[in-house]
Amino acid sequence: MSDAFAIDRLRFVTSNQHKFMEIKEVFRREGIAIEWIKKKYEEIQADNTEYISLDSARKLSSEIKGRFFLEDTGLYIDSLKGFPGPYSSYVAGTIGNEGILRLIEGLDRSCHFLTVITYFDGGSYLQFSGILKGHISIEIRGNGGFGYDPVFIPEGHKLTLAEMDIGMKSSISHRSIATQKFISHLRAGR
Ligand code: IMP
Repeated sequence: MSDAFAIDRLRFVTSNQHKFMEIKEVFRREGIAIEWIKKKYEEIQADNTEYISLDSARKLSSEIKGRFFLEDTGLYIDSLKGFPGPYSSYVAGTIGNEGILRLIEGLDRSCHFLTVITYFDGGSYLQFSGILKGHISIEIRGNGGFGYDPVFIPEGHKLTLAEMDIGMKSSISHRSIATQKFISHLRAGR
């Protein structure tokens, strides 16, 4: 039995093309095709990325028939006690990357991304998380990626995520780590 058949109709709900392309790339490397449900949905404001991801999946399960998954991601800056974390979307849309650079001037720049995938298998909700450690760059650099990519330098690297191509980002990212765990779960259940 091929993976494409065993892991039939795996659907990812997001309005963000970058997220879809990155996750599709991780699945593609494993020989698995995924479908894109291009849909914008309301996210609650809560202080926990796991909870936001689960709440979105619960609400969407009444609209979307069958199995699907989605993800929620946050940027956590150590010297700001994890801020913006679950408020990452709001902060990106208000102060943006320039604001982040100003906020942490003179402070420790260590941070991480956290992605939480929630998979609704038709009966239960399962979660898979991925963390990428790094630090905030001194300046905005790179044209690739999206969101905070131009200010995030992964541990052990010199380039920001926005200076990497999608193949490179998808081999190290928080999103790809969560996706790999998800794929292991799917394979184990075959
Ligand atoms: P959400 O998961 O779409 O709620 O993302 C929260 C915020 O983090 C948004 O402003 C995104 O643009 C940003 N974000 C999510 N994932 C990434 C990433 O992989 N790199 C950089 N920024 C991201």
